[in-house]
Amino acid sequence: MKAIQVGLLGIGTVGLGTFSVLQRNQEEIQRRAGRGIEIAMVAVRDVARARSIVGPDVKVVNDARAVIANPEIDIVVELIGGCGVAKQLVLEAIAAGKHVVTANKALLAVHGTEIFSAACAKGVMVAFEAAVAGGIPIIKALREGLTANRIQWIAGIINGTTNFILSEMREKGLDFEVVLKEAQRLGYAEADPTFDIEGVDAGHKVTLMSAIAFGIPVQFDKAYVEGITKLGAADIRYAEQLGYRIKLLGITKRTPKGIELRVHPSLVPAKRLLANVEGAMNAVVVNGDAVGTTLYYGKGAGSEPSASAVVADLVDITRLHTADPLHRVPHLAFQPDALTNLPVLPMSEVVTSYYLRLRVADQTGVLAQVTGILASAGISIDAVLQREADEVGGEGSTQTDVIILTHDAREGTMNEAIARLQALPTVLAPIVRIRKEELAG
Ligand code: NDP
Ligand code: HSE
Repeated sequence: MKAIQVGLLGIGTVGLGTFSVLQRNQEEIQRRAGRGIEIAMVAVRDVARARSIVGPDVKVVNDARAVIANPEIDIVVELIGGCGVAKQLVLEAIAAGKHVVTANKALLAVHGTEIFSAACAKGVMVAFEAAVAGGIPIIKALREGLTANRIQWIAGIINGTTNFILSEMREKGLDFEVVLKEAQRLGYAEADPTFDIEGVDAGHKVTLMSAIAFGIPVQFDKAYVEGITKLGAADIRYAEQLGYRIKLLGITKRTPKGIELRVHPSLVPAKRLLANVEGAMNAVVVNGDAVGTTLYYGKGAGSEPSASAVVADLVDITRLHTADPLHRVPHLAFQPDALTNLPVLPMSEVVTSYYLRLRVADQTGVLAQVTGILASAGISIDAVLQREADEVGGEGSTQTDVIILTHDAREGTMNEAIARLQALPTVLAPIVRIRKEELAG
């Protein structure tokens, strides 16, 4: 049978990996897919560079629409990124009846509803394994492997760049900017690295996992997103002294009131496997009612790990492309007419525990004032750590840090308590609040 014909839009970090893996493992991939998978065309802006990569047998063009218009092309792989031209091209490819593979989480988390419904109407597949956690087959696990389960919660380290930064800062004491540059050099970071460090990229990924886990539409606009740029070295240190590591987590959880959907730095007990995921590695913990807690770990970014996921999607589409569209696995795991409108909760309704750091005047009665405010708000304290003033501000210092770990509280209640604490004249700097996740099975 003739090899399935693939057109690549973009041959940067992920595109190059896809080309190399398909070439290198051609024979095994064909034995699995049932027919060959051939990259027949590539569209880029810099044609000369792409030609030097793919050689003379692959047609290189600088007009992506020429790939979509080519009747020989069965699958269009979008590896450009972003929500601009990539969105137009994906919608045009679907309209032209092409199956689409994309690694573009930003596009799907923001415009997924429009894209998936266009694909359903046309009877084509849109596959996106590489969009979440790079090489880890977490989309397949959630959509198919765990399909028997009522998923309860998912928590993951799903941005390699920020995990790399946090690891290098903690282990080697390196500066934020230095490590970010290294992550960019290694090809982990997004074209706009603020998406990584401000938690947006992780927000896109957890939005996709949430939709698949709970059968709700993709709703990135309802996600709470906080990155790592405001994290202080002191908090990383104090967390360690209390037996925790700080990780940027993407969390989505089913609660009686609705779905939690959030990304923020979190204290994770040092004994948890998730706390020990270092460098650009990703890990996702999924809790389902039948299976219990499961953990998926691997490279979350980079050329060939991401290509591993793109090629897996190409094999899936190759196997299924003659199947009746109604018998294929739905894009978001649930049948499109069976999505629910469970609300995504505002952050004020989220219930979690907290790490608070207060820079206070080293005076009698300050701790009593602070604990009094928390008690009157109904917030129960789990642990308190007070540093020597000299240790915090140098010899003769009149200021000190008080670190408080709380039990679970509603975020809205905590916001009010923090406002009252902040108004105390003995609280001398903005209070640091980091959420704490025990992640017990
Ligand atoms: P790169 O920036 O490395 O590559 C982008 C490619 O798109 C380049 O080849 C570029 O060509 C091409 N391109 C840009 N604009 C156009 C256009 N108008 N027409 C045709 N080609 C164009 O990106 P990545 O490979 O890193 O990322 C691609 C996608 O994969 C993104 O959505 C990203 O979020 C996602 N992703 C990335 C991962 C990673 O580890 N890097 C991991 C998982 C997902 P030229 O060089 O000629 O400008
Ligand atoms: N910028 C992303 C990361 C790439 O660092 O995880 C993988 O999606």
